[in-house]
Amino acid sequence: MIKKSTNLIKKASKYIPGASYYTAGQNVPGLPEFILDRGNGAYVYTTKNEKMLDVTLAHSSLILGHNNPKISNAVKNQIDKGSAFTNITEPAIELSEIMSKTIPCAEKIRLVNSGTEASILATRIVRAYTGKNLILKFEGAYHGFADNLLFNTNYGNSKNWNDYPIPTPDSIGMPKTLNEEILIAPYNDLKQTKKIILKYRSEIAGIIIEPVMRGLETDQSFLEGIRKISSKENIPLIFDEVITGYRLSLGGAQEFFRIKPDIAIYGKALGGGYPIGAIVGNEKIMNFLDPKSSDKNRIFSIGSFHSNPISSIAALTCISELQNPQNYNKLNEFGDSLRAELSHIFSQYKIPYFMTGTGSIVEFFFTSKSVLNYRDTLHTNLKLKSLLSIQLPKNFIVGGGGRFTSSIFHEKKELDWLLEGINNSLREINSSGELEKSFEQNQDSLASATKMG
Ligand SMILES: Cc1ncc(COP(=O)(O)O)c(C=O)c1O
Repeated sequence: MIKKSTNLIKKASKYIPGASYYTAGQNVPGLPEFILDRGNGAYVYTTKNEKMLDVTLAHSSLILGHNNPKISNAVKNQIDKGSAFTNITEPAIELSEIMSKTIPCAEKIRLVNSGTEASILATRIVRAYTGKNLILKFEGAYHGFADNLLFNTNYGNSKNWNDYPIPTPDSIGMPKTLNEEILIAPYNDLKQTKKIILKYRSEIAGIIIEPVMRGLETDQSFLEGIRKISSKENIPLIFDEVITGYRLSLGGAQEFFRIKPDIAIYGKALGGGYPIGAIVGNEKIMNFLDPKSSDKNRIFSIGSFHSNPISSIAALTCISELQNPQNYNKLNEFGDSLRAELSHIFSQYKIPYFMTGTGSIVEFFFTSKSVLNYRDTLHTNLKLKSLLSIQLPKNFIVGGGGRFTSSIFHEKKELDWLLEGINNSLREINSSGELEKSFEQNQDSLASATKMG
C-alpha cells in the first residue's frame, strides 16, 4: 500500500482550492493521496520515495520520459543564457524550421504556451480568414479550457446536452452569446456531420477535429470524408494534434492518416514535458499572424512568453530525438502489446470490453458493443473504469482508468509492471464483489437513462 503524503496534502488543502490544479468534471479522476517529487524515464517517485510506473506522463506530454537527460541538459544550457526575451530567439527559429520539415501542413508556425492558446488562435484565424462565424466541433472532443470551444467536451455533463448541432457549455461563467457560435456533430458519423455542414455551409468558418478523439480510434473514411467536404465547401479544416502530434508519428496524425488539414494545433509531446503550444498551417492562412499584413488580413496575437527559448529548446531537442524512427516503432509496439495483453486479462475475468486507441494512445471500455463516438462511451461500464483508477495507485501505477500512454522508456519490464497492476486491481475489485455490482449498477443506470429518454 502506498504511503500517504498526509502533511503536504493538508497544507495544499489550506492554500490551493481543493488541493488541486483542476476542477473535477465527471470524468476527471479524484485527488491523489500522494505527492510526486521527481521522475526518471518511465517512473515517478513520491515525496515518501516510493517508485511508481507512470502511464499518464503529464497528460501524455512526456514522450521521451521524465527528466530525459538530453532535454534536461539542453534546457540547463539555455537557462545559463536566459529564459525569456522580448523577441523571437534562435531556438524558436530552429524549432520552427524542424516543425515545418516534419509536419505536412506546416508552412508557417507560431509558438505559444499551451494547446489552449493554440486553439484560441486557430478559431480566431479561421474566422478572420473566412469572414464567417460558426465553428463546428465534435461531441466529446476537448480543445482546451478557453471559452471559445468549451462545449460538449468529455468533461461536460452530458445529461443536459442539447441535440446536434446545438451546443451546451461545460462551465458556468461562459458568455451565453457564445452558444450562437458553435455547432456540435457526432464523431465517426460522416452522414450526420455532412448534413450539418451542408445546412450551415455559408456560416461555418472552420471545422476542428481531434484525429484520434480522446483515445477513440478514428474511422479513416470518416476523416477522409471530412477533408473532402471541407475542401469542397472551402471551409478550413483544423486538426487538433495536441495529443496526436509527434506521438503517432513525426508528422503526427496528418502523416499517419495521410490527410492534410489547413491548420493544425500542437502542444503536449511537442515540448517533451515543457509548456508549449503551436499553431501551424499553410502560408496563406498563417499570414494572418504576420505583423506586416494589412489590418483586414491580420489577427491580434501576442504573449509574454510566446516563442520563449526554454520551451523552444526543449521541443527542438525532443523532435531531434524523435527523428530516430526506432522510437516510433517502440512507442507503437508498446501500444499494440498493451492492447493485446489487456484484452487477454479482461477475457480472463470474463469482462466484456471494447479495445480502441491508435499507436501509443491506448483506450478501452467495458461493454459488449462498439464504441465509436462519445455517446457510445456513456453506455459502457464507467463505474468499473473508476474502480480501476482507484486501485491502480495502490499498485504503484499513475494511470487513471484508461487512456494509457507511453514514452520511449516504456519497455517489456514496464508493460509487465502495468499488467500485473491491472491484474491485481481486477482481482481486488472482483473479490470484493464490486465487479459484479458495477455491471448491475450500470444496467440500472442505463435503464433509468432510457426511461428518462
Ligand atoms: C486534444 C487537446 N487539445 C487541446 C488541449 C489543451 O491543451 P493544454 O492543456 O496544453 O492547454 C488538450 C489538453 O488536454 C487536448 O487533449
